[in-house]
Amino acid sequence: MLSSRPLADKVIIVSGASSGIGAAAARLFSRAGARLVLVARSADRLEALTAELKAAGGDAVAVSGDVARAETARQAVDQAVDVFGGLDGAFNNAGITGDAAPVQDLPPSEWGQVIATNLTGAFHAAQAQIPALLARGGGSLVFTSTFVGHTVGFPGMAAYAASKAGLLGLTQVIAAEGGPQGIRANVLMPGGTDTPMGRAVASTPEIRQYVEGLHALKRIAEPEEIARAALFLLSDDASFVTGTALMADGGVSICRS
Ligand SMILES: NC(=O)c1ccc[n+]([C@@H]2O[C@H](COP(=O)([O-])OP(=O)(O)OC[C@H]3O[C@@H](n4cnc5c(N)ncnc54)[C@H](OP(=O)(O)O)[C@@H]3O)[C@@H](O)[C@H]2O)c1
Repeated sequence: MLSSRPLADKVIIVSGASSGIGAAAARLFSRAGARLVLVARSADRLEALTAELKAAGGDAVAVSGDVARAETARQAVDQAVDVFGGLDGAFNNAGITGDAAPVQDLPPSEWGQVIATNLTGAFHAAQAQIPALLARGGGSLVFTSTFVGHTVGFPGMAAYAASKAGLLGLTQVIAAEGGPQGIRANVLMPGGTDTPMGRAVASTPEIRQYVEGLHALKRIAEPEEIARAALFLLSDDASFVTGTALMADGGVSICRS
């Protein structure tokens, strides 16, 4: 039976929780009953969100740090275990686009930072999270990828596309390795979404109209629309869904009009 509080009693890490999709996910997951460990670099914004969730009857703690550092991932899992008694899942969602440039002009340092944040950060997260999920008898990991680098080759976004495509491979291996122990792992692929990142890409009304027009639905997503797809993957409603990539992309991947 479908639950009205599908994450009741679950302890979930949300990275990138200080903004956009991650912040919307934190609010949604909290309403769905989860106790949360919120991760991002901006301590102030995490503290404000933690206070907001607690005031609304939820429970959350903040871990401020860079996801490119393994230490941040370990601290988040430690908080889940120490404060809430264990870990049931994670929405590994923090990400950056990096500066746009054609491949031949992309500084290797820029490439390195994007890969370190988006792909190596996901690896650090999984490496810290899997033992805690095993101790719990299983759980669900969700990684935020994108349609860029999967169904669309967006000029100027080589590092972003490569890092996000890499998440598919990482996720499939985690799903295969962890399946026998009850661990599910999936990728979420949003389309254009109205967040600070999305607004930075669609930086003028003309570009925004163009980006909206790329989607079959002729609009971009509200952050909560993406968070709802993540909630499904984290919940027991997705109990037989693993090793897959869920597109919540408004049809940008299939649209040619
Ligand atoms: N918006 C879109 O159109 C779109 C489309 C497809 C996929 N996505 C993906 O969706 C995810 C969320 O993006 P968004 O649109 O919500 O963007 P956003 O509003 O810019 O939020 C990005 C989040 O990631 C965190 N973050 C970035 N670098 C970090 C680092 N090194 N360490 C820790 N946290 C870090 C940011 O927090 P701090 O700055 O406080 O660290 C922020 O909370 C990203 O992975 C993005 O690639 C977005």
